[in-house]
Amino acid sequence: MCTTDGFRRRFFRYVEGFLDRGVDPALRSNLELKRDHTLRVCEIAKELGLRLGLLPHDLFVAEIAALFHDIGRFDQYRRYRTFSDPDSEDHAKLGVAILKAEGVADMLEKEDRAVLLAAVRDHNLPRYPDASVRKTPAGREALVTRIVRDADKIDIYEITCNMYEDGLSAITGLASGNGISERVCREVLAKKTVMWRTLVTGNDFKIMQLGWALDINFVPSLQRIYEKGYLRRIKETLPVHRLAEEVYEMVSAAVRSRL
Ligand SMILES: [Fe+2]
Repeated sequence: MCTTDGFRRRFFRYVEGFLDRGVDPALRSNLELKRDHTLRVCEIAKELGLRLGLLPHDLFVAEIAALFHDIGRFDQYRRYRTFSDPDSEDHAKLGVAILKAEGVADMLEKEDRAVLLAAVRDHNLPRYPDASVRKTPAGREALVTRIVRDADKIDIYEITCNMYEDGLSAITGLASGNGISERVCREVLAKKTVMWRTLVTGNDFKIMQLGWALDINFVPSLQRIYEKGYLRRIKETLPVHRLAEEVYEMVSAAVRSRL
C-alpha cells in the first residue's frame, strides 16, 4: 500500500528551502499561509475522498494532488511578491513545471503521475471542465481534480469567512468600501463563471465566492459548506443590496436542492 510519507517529506523540504531564505518577515508569513492552507486542503480532500468511498489507491493520489496543488505559489511569491496570477504567471502551470523539475512527478507510476499533473494544472481553472482548454477529462483525472477543487474552495471559504468576521479584507488590490458591481451579480445570477478581471471591489470577490457554490462537485462538500454556514456568513458581511440578496437566495436554493 502506498503511503504519502515520502511525498510529505518532499513537500516540507521544498517549502523549508523558501522559508530558510525568507529573512523578509512578509515573505515568510505569506509562504507559511500557503503551507498551512495546503495542509488543510490535504485533510479536507482526504475526508472528502473517504466520504465518497474512494479506493485506497485513489485516495492516496488525491492526497498527493492536494499536497502539491499550490506548489507553484512559493516560487511565484518569491519571484513576483504577489499571489495574483494575472500580475505574475499562472501558479498552476508553474506548479506542474516544478513537480517535473524537482522529480516529484517521477516518484509516481506513469498513470498516477498523469493524474497528479492534470489535477495541479486544472485546480484553478475558472470553469471545470473547460472544453475550450482541452477535451473533457474523465475517470481518475476528473475525480481527483474535482476533489482538489472542492477542498481548495472549502478552505478558502473557511479562511476568508474568518477574515471578514474580523473586519479584514481577503484580497489586496480590490477597492474597499461598500460598492458592489452589478455586472458581477448579474453574471452569478446567470450562472456564468465570474472572471477575476471583472472584480472591482472586495465585495465583488464575496459575490464571486457565493457563486463558487454552484461549481462544487460533490454533495459531501456542499454539506460541509452548508453546515459551516459559509454562504450565510459571507452574506452577513455584505452591505444591504438588492442584487446581492438575489444572488444569495439563488445560490442557497441551488445548494439546498442538491442536499
Ligand atoms: Fe491554487
